Amino acid sequence: MKILVMHGVNLDMLGMRDPTQYGTVTLKEINQKLSELGGELGIEVETFQSNHEGTFVEKIHETHSSDVDALVINAGAWTHYSYAIHDALAILAIPIVEVHLSNIHAREAFRHQSLVAPLAKGQITGFGVSSYLLGLRAAFQLAHEA
Ligand code: DQA
Repeated sequence: MKILVMHGVNLDMLGMRDPTQYGTVTLKEINQKLSELGGELGIEVETFQSNHEGTFVEKIHETHSSDVDALVINAGAWTHYSYAIHDALAILAIPIVEVHLSNIHAREAFRHQSLVAPLAKGQITGFGVSSYLLGLRAAFQLAHEA
């Protein structure tokens, strides 16, 4: 089984971004923890980050005809306004799990809307790095059931 974890815009700057919202963990450390959990679950975990919306969309397109069984996605700020990412995700048939480090519903009003949520099986938001790890476990279970 293979699960893809996609990190969107500005998530490469974790560790340097507002630590009150995102903690001090870096993207490299998050990917390391995901890879360790993947090892425990006996699955392959691929991670991907881009600050370019078109590159991000193309990665979603590639996923359509790949061996990826489920997608965990933190689209960063794109979550709140990218119809292009929404439409690309709508093409996928595999289960999608939306994750966020911070609790988007407890922050500014513009973060309360997610264009990923209607296409996701569920959303895990506000648990820091654990959001990703819980998201990976959820994706693993969904891929098993599929
Ligand atoms: C985020 C929340 C978004 O609102 C924000 O733009 C991010 C990170 C999170 O993981 O908490 O870049 O997706």
